[in-house]
Amino acid sequence: MQTIHTVAALRAALKNQASIAFVPTMGNLHAGHIHLVEIARQHAECVVVSIFVNPLQFGPNEDLASYPRTLKADREKLETAGTDIVFAPNTGEMYPETQTMTITPPPIASELCGASRPGHFAGVATIVMKLFNIVFFNGSARQVAVFGKKDFQQLFIIKELVKQFNLPIEIIAGETVREADGLAMSSRNGYLSAQERASATQLNSALQSIVDAIKSGNKSFPALETTAIQQLCEAGWQVDYIAVRSAKTLLIPKENERDLVVLAAAKIGTTRLIDNLTITI
Ligand code: PAJ
Repeated sequence: MQTIHTVAALRAALKNQASIAFVPTMGNLHAGHIHLVEIARQHAECVVVSIFVNPLQFGPNEDLASYPRTLKADREKLETAGTDIVFAPNTGEMYPETQTMTITPPPIASELCGASRPGHFAGVATIVMKLFNIVFFNGSARQVAVFGKKDFQQLFIIKELVKQFNLPIEIIAGETVREADGLAMSSRNGYLSAQERASATQLNSALQSIVDAIKSGNKSFPALETTAIQQLCEAGWQVDYIAVRSAKTLLIPKENERDLVVLAAAKIGTTRLIDNLTITI
């Protein structure tokens, strides 16, 4: 496994690759990320993982400065998982000049997570476009990128990016990897105190209760959302949103919509967690 820090050196290493599978990350890797690397391994000869904490996708009062940077441990996990190349650029390498040109994501990017994180998905779409242009530059026969369903709205926006800009890249989605008690793995789980960690599973339970209600025929989505929000607030959470949406469009489900996703974002203490569950009725 090679670790590469510059765009030029990465392109030199990838010049003759016939198939590339790429997993973009911000590091502090856990089993969820490694699951994506294992999927990537099945799709191409060369697996590239990027580690870059992207300033453009963090709001002014968010955790850019404190976001965990653990390159040494990350490299060890990636080596074991069969990664060929780790691309770990610094901010100056990714943004040699101020990024005055950015991707404007679709209107859905202002809803759900976008409502409480203005500009977040523009920052994500812009860095992903840049990384795609850096990694997939030689027109190899097979170009695959793997993203997690844990960030369902992000995955949706990346699929739109690829479709609307005609990028010759196949997007593959990996299932959400969870702790034994149901908490979705996240680099931000490390911020939780022992007490918060014990309560954190309530987020997944709230989503699961909505899924169970829908499965048993309840279609009063706004009422289900309100009840779940109230319960989490009573348990001490600050809820950004809980929403039942169409899994295909992320819009409010139409009558007879069958593929649904229940999404949530909420803060426990100062840590913001997100999760979602899909359901077909
Ligand atoms: P990061 O949060 O590091 O996540 C990198 C990838 O891992 C994303 O595709 C995310 O959905 C996936 N992932 C995170 N937790 C997961 C879990 N528990 N199970 C399965 N997959 C999981 O998402 C980002 O970084 C950034 O926004 C990025 C796309 C790299 C752009 O900066």
